[in-house]
Amino acid sequence: MINIYYGPIVNPKTLRHYDALPQCLIAVGYDGNIIWVEDDIEASALYNTITARGLKDGEYNLVDFSKNPGEFIMPGLVDTHVHACQFPNLGIGGDYELLDWLFEYVFPTEAKFGDHKYAKRAYNDVIDRSIASGTTTSCYYSSLYLDTTILLADIIHEKGQRAFVGKCNMDWNCPGYYIERTPEDSLEDTKKLIKHILGLPLSRANEPLVHPIITPRFALSCSNKLLTELGKLAEQLPHVSIQTHISENRKEVEEAMRRFDAESYAAVYDRFGLLRNNTVLGHGVWLTEKEMKLIAKRGAGVAHCPTSNFYLSSGMAKVGLLLDHGVKVGLGTDVGGGYNPSILYTIQMASTASKMVAVQAKLDEERRQQRLAHKCCKYRKHGKRGKHGRHGKEDTSSDMDSDSNSNSEAESARHPNHHEGHHHQSKPCHGLPPFANQKLQTETLLYLATLGGADVCSLQDYIGSFEVGKAFDALHISLDDACGNPAVWGAGVDDKEKERTPKNLRTWLERFLFTGDNRNIRRVWVQGVVVGGADNHVHARVDR
Ligand code: GUN
Ligand code: FE
Repeated sequence: MINIYYGPIVNPKTLRHYDALPQCLIAVGYDGNIIWVEDDIEASALYNTITARGLKDGEYNLVDFSKNPGEFIMPGLVDTHVHACQFPNLGIGGDYELLDWLFEYVFPTEAKFGDHKYAKRAYNDVIDRSIASGTTTSCYYSSLYLDTTILLADIIHEKGQRAFVGKCNMDWNCPGYYIERTPEDSLEDTKKLIKHILGLPLSRANEPLVHPIITPRFALSCSNKLLTELGKLAEQLPHVSIQTHISENRKEVEEAMRRFDAESYAAVYDRFGLLRNNTVLGHGVWLTEKEMKLIAKRGAGVAHCPTSNFYLSSGMAKVGLLLDHGVKVGLGTDVGGGYNPSILYTIQMASTASKMVAVQAKLDEERRQQRLAHKCCKYRKHGKRGKHGRHGKEDTSSDMDSDSNSNSEAESARHPNHHEGHHHQSKPCHGLPPFANQKLQTETLLYLATLGGADVCSLQDYIGSFEVGKAFDALHISLDDACGNPAVWGAGVDDKEKERTPKNLRTWLERFLFTGDNRNIRRVWVQGVVVGGADNHVHARVDR
């Protein structure tokens, strides 16, 4: 049966634009892929439009979201970085920083996942919770254990979420109770996991829903030998993705560079052939511009995990600068470094982080100008103006601040928040203003949470937006008070906002992104099948 959805639809297009379509029709075929999309269809023209597509009564099922104000459909959210076996730690450990936190909180919890019974109960809850948060695609790290990682992949498959599942490779610098004994063991288990996942039944569209992913935990938990072997394995399996952590914490960066005697953290992964177009790099808080260029050149993507970066005092990733360098960026909850498993919450944190980065950049720029002025005064006092002519300020600034790439006032006036010179030179792409040091707008946040995430996990041709041929991975959102979340449309919202106009639909989206929660996510589809949502407490086991 063909399902036809009618109502307001939000459809991300680019980093700077999404479509807000109040009267849209999306037809989804039996295989769960979108077969056509029609925009701007009045309710009175519905029947004729469907008939014109060659469909007769009884050949389709019409689902109408156009009746209740505040209801709309949007693409499912993509979580590009999450640790399934750290859900038991949600909300604890935030007084620590990364390296101590791993030993105090993470490794003891992950070690429990050697127990099959415990893992089964926990992983069932984890996947239910992830789906209820509107995550239709997720990149999971499991523990180091092969058998319970297989179990995780099976549970995800049974529940129908789209996912990547990797077992952690970690044979170095971990506690005795939670470490792989040899690189050979680690490699063998990884191969077995890949084989198992590639053998899972395909979706209704004859495509896999669960994918394997090679998961060296991070540089500091892997021996040279293991990284070498994983690089070789990746070379043999170019279509299998890779995920790891990079430049999350300053101490970690220092140790990684020292231990591998490398010029940068990114250079370590590059040395082992682990940086490529299907590599997902978690965090990237402290990446230099040189590393960003290398990552962009290799086509790898970054999972931006702001909740975790705040919680573990790691820092704030320069997302705008990454985007200006052409690096693919998606969002990650990084549970349990992140204390909230929802990508909605991650959007809020990404927004906040970008605003703080912008404030800091502005402050830095003001200080730089003050320093310049100060130097300039001293220079004048000592009577060294010499041959540099009449325009003291301009001439001396180019003299004194030789590492500054742009000292023209006109340039800084055009980009008031643009931190020039010594830290970076962000290039506007195609004549558009740069993202660096600017707050992320709703358009960009929505993109990062959907299409951007899809791009980071190399699924941009399959998911992330509503296009013909893509899978219907979607969320049915409702802002109605009856959802039980008074924060979205509580007392005082003007009735005018409830009219279905493109402008109001944008307002609905913003309210959902910043005040919505699982209660507003009524239905969650993956590959056209309802897999969860507040209206679906029981998971229908459908053939797919
Ligand atoms: N680096 C290595 N392992 C981890 C982990 O489990 N979480 C985070 N946030 N960073 C890591
Ligand atoms: Fe992580």
